Amino acid sequence: MDCPCCGRKIRPAEEVLAGLDALYMACPLCPPEPGLEKNSPLHLLDRDLERCSACGRAPLDLVMLEVLKVLVDFGLRDRSDTLRSVGSPLVETGYPMAYPPRLGRDELIISGRGLSRPAAEEITKSVPEVKGVIQGDGLPGMIDPGRGENDPELLAGCDLRCDVVQSIFGDLVIYKNQSKVHIEFSRQDAPKMRILEDLCLWRRVRDVADCLCGPGTLGLICLLAGATRVVLNDIWRPAVENAILNLEVNRSALGIGRVDRPEPSASDLGSYPVLVGLVEGEPRVEVYHGDLARLFSRAKPAEICLIDPFPGGKTKDLIDACRSCGDVVII
Ligand SMILES: C[S@@+](CC[C@H](N)C(=O)[O-])C[C@H]1O[C@@H](n2cnc3c(N)ncnc32)[C@H](O)[C@@H]1O
Ligand SMILES: [Zn+2]
Ligand SMILES: [Zn+2]
Repeated sequence: MDCPCCGRKIRPAEEVLAGLDALYMACPLCPPEPGLEKNSPLHLLDRDLERCSACGRAPLDLVMLEVLKVLVDFGLRDRSDTLRSVGSPLVETGYPMAYPPRLGRDELIISGRGLSRPAAEEITKSVPEVKGVIQGDGLPGMIDPGRGENDPELLAGCDLRCDVVQSIFGDLVIYKNQSKVHIEFSRQDAPKMRILEDLCLWRRVRDVADCLCGPGTLGLICLLAGATRVVLNDIWRPAVENAILNLEVNRSALGIGRVDRPEPSASDLGSYPVLVGLVEGEPRVEVYHGDLARLFSRAKPAEICLIDPFPGGKTKDLIDACRSCGDVVII
């Protein structure tokens, strides 16, 4: 499997999960954690920090300090600015950590405001730990058709990162092109996962639609929990592509066969959701790209519909769209 952004090889879920024990860990020879004050101005922080001479890893503070210095060189920050002013550091593999990360090559994505493409290109060139730089910190995806100018944009490098999602049914690796899919921190104690786990524990979830699937987290958990048919749907094409990628990378844990990419037929032209991914057999997975309002005029209605809207999103029309199905569960 190749990255949809930069074409490099993507690690399958097994490989990511097998490396979690040592993820972002200091080696015995790593220098101590610098513990820089995130709100101190650069002129008070400016000292030389070093990567470990044994493992080559860098503390997060070092990486953010180097990025801040590039932004100062490009006139986008000055020496009164702080590490925090750079933006949000997003580790390449999101997993709850009890210690600050030690980073290797391409293990950090920076998302912030007041950046520029030339500065971002210099950052990805001169700070090896930075994999990509994203301008903006809004919610990508289709919530309001009128929006657009504040959408996050990848300025340089690659924005593919993944989150390890833990559930009582097993673990998944959910990849996302972070400039195109909203930031979400899935943890086992996240309320969303609790609702879904309770649902799967108390009822037999056989035939389920993850109606606003994003990168596919909830539908994939249902597969882990033993669902025999899962429909994934989203109106935002990049999210759907990530959902298909996530079916592929988690194939062995999900116990599914190859993900086919059906050719769109002439009748697909129009405003109905289009079937863009299909896993045949049992479990069966159908992946649609389109508006939930018309999903069930194309897909067979499901026994259970999961609706996970953006925070504050209205749900009435979404629930109405599932009236031909069994139960609707708002996640
Ligand atoms: C909160 S996100 C879903 C996150 C996902 N369940 C997860 O856990 O990763 C909401 C998703 O709804 C999609 N969406 C919003 N309105 C929609 C509609 N009318 N039809 C289909 N998808 C829609 C957005 O593109 C977005 O991906
Ligand atoms: Zn990539
Ligand atoms: Zn080291």
